[in-house]
Amino acid sequence: MSYENLLSILSAHGQEQLIKYWPELSENEREQLSSEILNLDFGEVNEIFRRANETSKVIFDKLDNDLKPIPQTHYESVPNLNVEKIEEYENTGLKEISEGRVGVLLLAGGQATRLGFGHPKGMYDVGLPSRKTLFQIQGERIRRIQNMATEKYGKEGKITWYIMTSEHTMGPTAEFFKSHSYFGLNKDDIVFFKQGTFPCYDFNGKVILAKKYHINSAPDGNGGLYRALKAEGVLEDIAGRGIKHLHAHSVDNILIKVADPVFIGYCSSKNADCAAKVVSKSSPSEAVGVVCRVNGHYKVVEYSELTDEAAESREPDGRLTFSAGNICNHYFSSEFLAKICNYESKLKLHVAKKKIPYVDANGVCQKPAESNGIKIEKFIFDVFEFAENFICLEVARDVEFSALKNADSAKKDCPSTAREDLLRLHRKYIRQAGGEITDDVDIEISPLLSYGGENIEELVKNEVFTISPFHLKSYEEAATNGVNGKH
Ligand code: UD1
Repeated sequence: MSYENLLSILSAHGQEQLIKYWPELSENEREQLSSEILNLDFGEVNEIFRRANETSKVIFDKLDNDLKPIPQTHYESVPNLNVEKIEEYENTGLKEISEGRVGVLLLAGGQATRLGFGHPKGMYDVGLPSRKTLFQIQGERIRRIQNMATEKYGKEGKITWYIMTSEHTMGPTAEFFKSHSYFGLNKDDIVFFKQGTFPCYDFNGKVILAKKYHINSAPDGNGGLYRALKAEGVLEDIAGRGIKHLHAHSVDNILIKVADPVFIGYCSSKNADCAAKVVSKSSPSEAVGVVCRVNGHYKVVEYSELTDEAAESREPDGRLTFSAGNICNHYFSSEFLAKICNYESKLKLHVAKKKIPYVDANGVCQKPAESNGIKIEKFIFDVFEFAENFICLEVARDVEFSALKNADSAKKDCPSTAREDLLRLHRKYIRQAGGEITDDVDIEISPLLSYGGENIEELVKNEVFTISPFHLKSYEEAATNGVNGKH
């Protein structure tokens, strides 16, 4: 496309800065830039900026007037349920798995900037005795839970693993899975798809160039899921496989109970269309969103949007009123997903001020020291308000939630806390199964052996564990990679 034609498209929308360096570009560079420009609808680009700014103004009006906690009728807490109830939910979930009606939506399109890891976060190895990565741990949990469903119901349990990647994470993620033989899962039951992007803007709504011939863009947030499910044909795949329940979660929670049958069973028994797992907030100031109701609608209110008064408000029994901490762990019925994907364009647009690499007046790429623009994101939980039967399941933090967000220097939500949290939980499982272990012994139980502490009694009862670090392997791993404890 000629310079004149591009100029006429861009100047109609006030974005002509994008071809500022045109005279200096090579033929190939011109081709790249013009194809990037033609791929965008600049009317929409400007509208996105306008809407995002509008929503951010509304969001920053603090919201606590109409704020209510989740009603007890829509809330259950695993630590408060009796064993029979948990078993009932688990059996329902395992039955659904054995019928092939369960899928997992893994959100793995983030850029892991806080962690400072140059690869997709799922490839991170936090230094467990086995040196397994987050992807491997999750893949092996899926294998184990499939086996449990098969053992229980005699039908081959099958879970489809949908993995949302982004422009940056698609290639390396798919390659990593392939080079690890899909962690022993059936390749056809793993579906990679790519979320979309939004351009990055300066504060006046001008799209920023990352290079003289390349537009700066970023993934459209984990709420980009809905657009991607439709655009990438995943909804059809879900329908084609007869999947009814989807468990969606972030890639960074090392304790994630992937395709958790208790959660699936709870949601299925209650006929929920959408649900969230939550943990009780550790303190009023903990920086997690809270699941609550605003004007009668279910929402996640980010901690920055909550007034101190609301954050600190307590019930007569001393519990925080707004204690349902969001852990990016959600349930969707396939029907709800199909419905919501049709009006995803109405989802809220969230704005984050960022330091965005740009091309300076001399044509040199610069990394700014201060925020110079905005990135726009959609959030996965912004569909809660459209649910007809939204419910919440509280789970124990020490059993189900430890997120890897930062580098070790942050000292929280980092590789060492993730590793310690997992090892602490596995010590607890050993003790529950009758083994003896002191706190200074590091033991890791393979997900292929045990999903949540079950199936280890035969190996650990009356055993005293003193070797550290120790990897308690599945029978299959021990047969192929050497005896337990050795790597
Ligand atoms: C998220 C939750 C927050 C919760 C916290 C708990 C959202 C929007 N916020 O915050 O309420 O308290 O987890 O740990 O869910 N991702 C994509 N594509 C993107 C951006 C992110 O797939 O464009 C994925 C990430 O890879 C990650 C997950 O979404 O797996 C969570 O994203 P992240 O940006 O880390 O959210 P938090 O700010 O940690």
